[in-house]
Amino acid sequence: VPDTEVVQRALDWDSSTIVVIDQTALPARRDLLRLTTVDDVVDAIRRLVVRGAPVIGVTGALGVALAARAHRLPDGRLDEQAVVRDARRIADARPTAVNLRWAVERVLARLPQGAEAVLAEALAVLAEDERTNREAARRAAGILRDACPDRPLRVLTHCNTGDLAALGGGTALGAVRELARDGRVREVLATETRPLLQGARLTVWELHRAGIPHRLCVDSAAPAAMAGGLVDAVVVGADRIAANGDTANKIGTYALACAAAHHRIPFVVVAPESTVDAGTACGADIPIEERDAAEVTRMAGADTTVPGTRVYNPAFDITPAELVTAIVTERRTWRPAQSAVSVRVPAGGVRR
Ligand code: MRU
Repeated sequence: VPDTEVVQRALDWDSSTIVVIDQTALPARRDLLRLTTVDDVVDAIRRLVVRGAPVIGVTGALGVALAARAHRLPDGRLDEQAVVRDARRIADARPTAVNLRWAVERVLARLPQGAEAVLAEALAVLAEDERTNREAARRAAGILRDACPDRPLRVLTHCNTGDLAALGGGTALGAVRELARDGRVREVLATETRPLLQGARLTVWELHRAGIPHRLCVDSAAPAAMAGGLVDAVVVGADRIAANGDTANKIGTYALACAAAHHRIPFVVVAPESTVDAGTACGADIPIEERDAAEVTRMAGADTTVPGTRVYNPAFDITPAELVTAIVTERRTWRPAQSAVSVRVPAGGVRR
């Protein structure tokens, strides 16, 4: 797809196909891909061509619309069983982000009304995603502004929670964009986010394009940055929030929350309500995706360890509710820890 043709956002519906930015190619290239079949959709979700909980939810919803269009019978009716089978494959493409299952089930409920009703519902999911993320980000920006009212903030963020991951500007990074518009961001510290470097490749790309001051650090530098007084707040997204507030997010988030709690730095989660899973009681019930060993053992086409080394490669971890200062959605601010954590301003001002 020529770059100019469509898509300013992570994905769109165009001429009966899903057009996505190939996030595996960024930041070197901004390639667009057309997903025309359910196999394309499953593959794109699995390979992280599209990624981030809200965006894979929208992709899944549009994927079901593709399935419904593909399974029209000659008499005009739908082969509903075939669509349901495809929908199940899409929902199972990745297990942790509940948005995917939520969106697939939502559009599937329109199956009795026909393929066009399924598509209309999927497009409604897309439009809603933009609205809800924007509102959650706006509310989170207000909370961060209040937490640090006297000066522009230094914010640490993990993975990518921007426009590529959540339409409408993003969730956690959407809040940062909102603050930056008011000149309220001094610096964003973006973690690399090993092993797939969503922070280095995608968050930095978005911050650079938006002209927001930022620095990149290795994941393990984050606690040192907090200890050194470089961080006023940690702001992250979520893949699934359990009923008790335990939060699944990109691997490394839990370590950030532990360090933030130690340094009494606010730890804020920003997500749409579709990420909250009332049916999952606590973090222990959230399925954690384990990904390919090669993501850890290889880099830029070369081995980085002894060939054959066994690997532990969870894509997500669980941050217990008691470490979360606030979960901000489009509708509410939820303080699962019930702890009023105040911003720690380093003695003697900002150290570098
Ligand atoms: O494996 P990824 O890149 O899909 O993981 C994404 C994250 O963990 C994000 O923080 C989360 O989905 C929220 S995106 C607004």
